[in-house]
Amino acid sequence: MDDNKYIVFALAKGRLAGQAMELLEKTGITCDEMKDKDTRKLVFVNEELKLKFFLAKATDVPTYVELGAADIGIVGLDTILEENRRVYEVLDLKMGKCRMCVCGPESAGELLKHRERIRVATKYPVIAKDYFFNTKHQTVDIIKLNGSVELGPIVGLSDCIVDIVETGSTLRENGLKVLEEIRDLSARVIVNQVSMRMQNKRITEIIDKMKAEIDQ
Ligand code: PRP
Repeated sequence: MDDNKYIVFALAKGRLAGQAMELLEKTGITCDEMKDKDTRKLVFVNEELKLKFFLAKATDVPTYVELGAADIGIVGLDTILEENRRVYEVLDLKMGKCRMCVCGPESAGELLKHRERIRVATKYPVIAKDYFFNTKHQTVDIIKLNGSVELGPIVGLSDCIVDIVETGSTLRENGLKVLEEIRDLSARVIVNQVSMRMQNKRITEIIDKMKAEIDQ
């Protein structure tokens, strides 16, 4: 155990990072440097508490944590399942709640029901394959996209999509519907497996504080 070592947090960029920092602040884990909106800095430090924070693309957070560049990561369960990295998932932050769903035009419902060989566009090929092949036992063709997945059925690239639904407004505005629900999602805390052993006291303290705040 080394109390002079920094505990490094990797936070998924975007709305989640803001919410996660708010939660951490309530537990006394603060980082004033991060509040400067104009900064081009990538790594933020709290010298007093020996903490470092950096923002990364969500899909990269599990990579940083698995390889030990960060001790603790905060990222959505969708990304954790898709990336399938060797990390400990230790806490459900109960924020960033949404659902992973099969969506499409109403007409695609029939294709799903009759287990037709359909084309499925998604940013989440691992999750989509697992759902169709292992849970539904349906053969489908998965088309990997990197964003604006709702375009798939609209422009005729795919029959349906597997994607995140939060408020449902993207679907509504594009004439698409939730056809099947795959699972509920939320933001999670992940920990590097070696850090969990070597920095157990400090990391457990941080996790416990966050948990206490969530349970309030
Ligand atoms: C996500 C998701 C949906 C949308 C769902 O996309 O892929 O498109 O949000 O949210 P809603 O149900 O509240 O409308 P994101 O904004 O991350 O952009 P992207 O599709 O370009 O990745």
